[in-house]
Amino acid sequence: MAVGVFDSGLGGLTVLRALERRLPEVPFVYFADSAHAPYGVRTADDIYELTCAAVERLWAEGCDLVILACNTASAAALRRMQESWLPRDKRVLGVFVPLIEALTERRWGDNSPPREVKVKHVALFATPATVSSRAFQRELAFRAIGVDVEAQACGGVVDAIEEGDMILAEALVRSHVDALRRKMPTPEAAILGCTHYPLLEEIFQDALGPQVDVYSQAELVAESLADYLDRHPGMAGHGAARFLTTGDPRRVSGHATQVLRRPISFQQA
Ligand code: DGL
Repeated sequence: MAVGVFDSGLGGLTVLRALERRLPEVPFVYFADSAHAPYGVRTADDIYELTCAAVERLWAEGCDLVILACNTASAAALRRMQESWLPRDKRVLGVFVPLIEALTERRWGDNSPPREVKVKHVALFATPATVSSRAFQRELAFRAIGVDVEAQACGGVVDAIEEGDMILAEALVRSHVDALRRKMPTPEAAILGCTHYPLLEEIFQDALGPQVDVYSQAELVAESLADYLDRHPGMAGHGAARFLTTGDPRRVSGHATQVLRRPISFQQA
């Protein structure tokens, strides 16, 4: 049984790279819904339908456990999927909680009441759909009190990355950081709340300045999956690693090869 990794496009590769490093013995099937990217400008219903279809496709590949390596799907669809759609023998895990646990200095499964934490001013960079879901603020409020979150919806960045236009992506990141700074001049921490954004992590750090701690998810998600598989060893085992896309496999393979800096060959989903 392989583990499924889902994103609307290339961003989830930042998570996959960390998963492969942390769990080299686990086969992963990566699914990029490139034909429907970006998700971040879609409605919650649309994101829910597309995410369910992608997860079903990964089940057909034998992946009973699927990681939503997409904040937009985690924010807009995951709760609804878990509450009303997911069969008992399947698991879908999102990417929000490991990050919020790190930010709030908690260990996995620490469900104690919310408490004061070191960080007080947090900048959240995410897609428009993630920002409007307020899922990040909700998860944070379960764990911490007194944290001021300023969210910046980063329109256009995912499109530019999917098109391979990193010059445009960089310019957009710098203007979104400027816009955030006008609302919150001195954040202590910044969350890269979209799995595409770590591809521009150096630009975020440069624009924010060295005094801001930039949190991205890949390593945190990899650590939490390792912990999950220790507790549920039956959820991952044999199977072949594959890359699937709903887009043009040649084009997506070319971009993915640049992102991962090794030859990647996508097949039609
Ligand atoms: N990587 C997805 C995320 O983490 C991008 C969403 C999109 O397609 O807009 O939110």
